[in-house]
Amino acid sequence: MNLLNSDDLSKEDIEGIFSIADDMSKGKDKKYRLDGASLTLFFEKTSTRTRMSFEVAMTQLGGHAIYIDPSTTQRSRGETLADTTRMFSGYCDLIAARLYKHADLLEIARNSTVPVINALTDIEHPTQALADVYTIRVHKKNMAGLRIAFVGDTANNTANSLMVVAAKLGAETVLIGPKGYSPNMDFVKIARKYSNVEVADSLEKGLKGVDAIYTDTFVSMGQEAEAEKRRKLFAPYQVNSGVFKYAKSDAIVLHCLPAHRGEEITSDVLDGPKSVVWEQARNKMLLNKAIMAYLSKR
Ligand code: CP
Ligand code: NVA
Repeated sequence: MNLLNSDDLSKEDIEGIFSIADDMSKGKDKKYRLDGASLTLFFEKTSTRTRMSFEVAMTQLGGHAIYIDPSTTQRSRGETLADTTRMFSGYCDLIAARLYKHADLLEIARNSTVPVINALTDIEHPTQALADVYTIRVHKKNMAGLRIAFVGDTANNTANSLMVVAAKLGAETVLIGPKGYSPNMDFVKIARKYSNVEVADSLEKGLKGVDAIYTDTFVSMGQEAEAEKRRKLFAPYQVNSGVFKYAKSDAIVLHCLPAHRGEEITSDVLDGPKSVVWEQARNKMLLNKAIMAYLSKR
């Protein structure tokens, strides 16, 4: 089984992955071993957490990860993505790819004989969404009926995957960003098949009654040319201590990281008592272990 899109995951798949993560967090790793397995990490974009967490996760499961920077491969001299993929799946048991174009991930999946995992593309970040929702579930117990706010660039990869995974477990999302700025309606439509998704331009109205407040960078990888315009557009949607007067008193704060302190989030919030951000980042390793164990058996 591949994990290319958040919509590839049924509710049962998400619960299956979470149940493996629960087992693993209690030290029950034995039955999920991937002894001798190899993982290709094919990353066109930079990464701190996703790369490290996958590498260590595979080592802990008994396997080995190989980090491939495309510029050091024959891809840089014109070898096709299809032919390159044939080598990855010829030598390895799993592929995780971080790419600019989602279409290239689908091309890898078409040419691979082993499971392919989306480690972030321009439109999706599903492994992140699994770690995010798992972290929310740890704090709030039951996802059904929760209200999660995504504040800022509501059309980005993290927002798209989060709203779909959360909706499949019965949580609703409110996407809060500037007037006239549209979320990616393809993902809103998918999420609305499972739960409520609202779009708001007012922090005061949108944050009313929310259990979790999520933000991410205003300038995603690949959008550097628009950086100045984006920082101005999203500036009123900074997650700072002022947002708490609108949300539930026990609301938690999430961020996929890397954070741009003083832009989308302030340091007092990121490092403050409502933040579960550092736990969320640590959970990426647990969830990546669970994802690899789950996909390898299907
Ligand atoms: N959250 C996340 O994907 O971080 P990295 O870009 O460091 O992998
Ligand atoms: N939206 C961000 C996520 C980084 C993990 C980006 O794509 O750069």
